[in-house]
Amino acid sequence: MLDSVDIAARVEEILAAHSGTEGALLPILHSVQESFGYVPEEVLPQIAQHQNISKAEAYGVMTFYHDFRAKPAGTHVLKLCRAESCQTMGADRVAAHAKETLGLDWHETTPDGKITLEPIFCLGLCACGPSALVDGKVVGRLTEAKLDAIVKGMR
Ligand code: FES
Repeated sequence: MLDSVDIAARVEEILAAHSGTEGALLPILHSVQESFGYVPEEVLPQIAQHQNISKAEAYGVMTFYHDFRAKPAGTHVLKLCRAESCQTMGADRVAAHAKETLGLDWHETTPDGKITLEPIFCLGLCACGPSALVDGKVVGRLTEAKLDAIVKGMR
């Protein structure tokens, strides 16, 4: 586990890699999340200073986009599409089943740290909805039974 000095040093490397790049805030946040699995709140002042914006602006951008996490995810990440096409194909039903089965709400992780449930908004797989992203792999035509099998494989 990295301590705050290690985290600050890694963020400095990321900031240096984006020096002189206009509109680098989102790429920086993506790089930070790629490095740590989430965006630690303690690095936002460092990023804000580098980008010459307020801490509130950095925080606002980070929390606006659902892809950025404020805390580490579980071992497995299950993202269920919440956009319109998937909703018309039964995504609400599957999402309710997932929440009940896992005992989670969106952005929560099971107590054993194994599964994080997150919403996602369109995977470009609308014709095969309801769609999901399971540890980065796209899954289509999701049903409650298919979801149960996926969850079983994660446990
Ligand atoms: S709406 Fe779900 S993949 Fe497009």
